[in-house]
Amino acid sequence: MKIVSGPSSPALSVNISRLLNAPIARIKYKRFPDGEFYFKFEEDISDEDIIVIQSLYPPQESHIFELLVILHTARDLGANNIHLFIPYLAYSRQDERYLSGEAVTSRMLADIIQQFDITSFYTIDIHNKKILSFYKASAYTLFASLELVNYALKHGINDPIIIAPDDEEDAIERVKYAASNLSLEYNFLGKFRDRYTGEITTFEREFEVKERDVVLIDDIISTGKTMANAVRILRRREAGKIYVGVSHLLPSPHAIQLIYEAGADEIFASDTIPSELSKVSVAPIFVQSFKKNI
Ligand code: R5P
Repeated sequence: MKIVSGPSSPALSVNISRLLNAPIARIKYKRFPDGEFYFKFEEDISDEDIIVIQSLYPPQESHIFELLVILHTARDLGANNIHLFIPYLAYSRQDERYLSGEAVTSRMLADIIQQFDITSFYTIDIHNKKILSFYKASAYTLFASLELVNYALKHGINDPIIIAPDDEEDAIERVKYAASNLSLEYNFLGKFRDRYTGEITTFEREFEVKERDVVLIDDIISTGKTMANAVRILRRREAGKIYVGVSHLLPSPHAIQLIYEAGADEIFASDTIPSELSKVSVAPIFVQSFKKNI
């Protein structure tokens, strides 16, 4: 078994290689002066089982193209089983035709990846589990919420409650998973996103947060409006410290500021998208699941 470290996930690949005790395949890649991508395996991978690791954060199209080049080359050179770990799966929010005529881009991406006959597919906190059914290979989405909450707990927090800023099934499942593993309480707020304007309205629900420390958990921070709305409500309800943990941090320019201005105490993320706020690695999460399924 060899690890193929895609250009977007070098640090994570090293962590996974250490934990799995599997070497990283020697590769070479670069961009030509006109921007085109060049890729080369520098060792024989024929008949090898490989794990390709490539996150699809911005620039999404470049990272997707790099992935396709790697998969095509690996198949072409006779790799045996190809396992694919995409820590952040881009385009997952385009998971159905919400408005007539729209592209269902997450299905298109799955259809293309399928062509390379991958054996298994892993990702972290997929936006909607139904996307897994777009893949013919064994497909898994893994929760980062337990590790995110554990990071917050290291601060020695008081009478904690874990909250999802959204009442969608997947959002609730994420906080429920962490809460049940840690024997903590969880709850969620209601949310409505206007599909035309993008505006987000958050609805309060009955639960006690006064003087309790809160860990807010979501899959994505983009504009930051979902989290900022939730933090504002919790502040008004006199919560104690408010920790904001997210699997995939894709902040638009003022997102982080918006959430801090709403009253968050700390924002942190996993390393599916490397940044200075990546405090939690998803490497052990992937390795544990991979070993179980192999
Ligand atoms: C959407 O349903 C997701 O779970 C996130 O809540 C959403 O993508 C966050 O986006 P934003 O930061 O733009 O509110």
